[in-house]
Amino acid sequence: MNDIKVFVSSVLPQIGIDMLRKENFNVITWNDDSPIPRDVLIKNAKQCNALLCTLTAKIDAEFLDECSHLEIISQFGVGYDNINITEATKHGIPVSNTPGVLTDATADIAFGLMIAASRKMFFMHKKIEKDEWKHFTPVSNLGIELKHKTLGIFGLGRIGTEMAKRCKGAYEMNIIYYNRTRNLEAEKLLNAKYVSFNELLAQSDVLSVHSILSEETKGIFNKAAFDRMKSTSIFINTSRGSVHNEEDLIAALKEGKIWGAGLDVTNPEPMKPDNPLLNMPSVAVLPHIGSATVEARNGMSRLAAENIIEFYKNGRIPNFVNPEVIKEE
Ligand code: DGY
Repeated sequence: MNDIKVFVSSVLPQIGIDMLRKENFNVITWNDDSPIPRDVLIKNAKQCNALLCTLTAKIDAEFLDECSHLEIISQFGVGYDNINITEATKHGIPVSNTPGVLTDATADIAFGLMIAASRKMFFMHKKIEKDEWKHFTPVSNLGIELKHKTLGIFGLGRIGTEMAKRCKGAYEMNIIYYNRTRNLEAEKLLNAKYVSFNELLAQSDVLSVHSILSEETKGIFNKAAFDRMKSTSIFINTSRGSVHNEEDLIAALKEGKIWGAGLDVTNPEPMKPDNPLLNMPSVAVLPHIGSATVEARNGMSRLAAENIIEFYKNGRIPNFVNPEVIKEE
């Protein structure tokens, strides 16, 4: 594989790089921890057969026009909204991703954010730092409990199922969900009830977003959606920030349309330090760390490399995002 050049556009856990080098791919890496400048990305991708990238690389129509020679784009991540899949398919470029290995890590973050928001944990922590912990008071700092509440999942796939399992196990929560298509397996496993989007909004005590970002889901959690939610509800998003409208979310919290929020993804990213969400008592925000565990990131690196190796060695892609590319060729 010496003649096959792979460009890796972010610093990754070494395991995937080692796997590629062991198979004698010629691996070229971007070695700075900050996102690669676009012109450098294009320049390098132009000289390589394959690209291994992360969500910080914008693989849009313009990039794909310039780099239509690419033989495979291997995304380090389960989400691939940074890649214009329709255009990649038009150019006959297969795209792969890394599902499964980050499921538990991301579900843990959703679960943690739910508890943190429900008990105002991040806000209370800041009070200590500001020397505002003066005495015990029976009537302030009150959160809300989760036992027997209703968890609504928007996008019941792998991660949503793990979140629901945690909520059912820990708090015997009642599970409802909304998907484009029903997930009968999860319904059986979780005794989950399929509801309409409006019912999901109206009935959820905690509404957790686990969908992909698409034209359909972009901004779907907007004023109209928050207006339909319970005033005691908590909104959790660990998928992509653009699924919610952040101004509308801020207004909904200020006006008491919803009670709290837990976000691992924001809109835009990174969130600015003066964002009002950071000073709201029942809001918990994290900087997109859903998959940030040693185990998940090593798994993602391994899978991203495996997708490339299998493609060149055996003509198959284990995690194929656009298999229709084969028909288009
Ligand atoms: C994912 O895999 O989609 C995570 O958000 C990190 O990219």
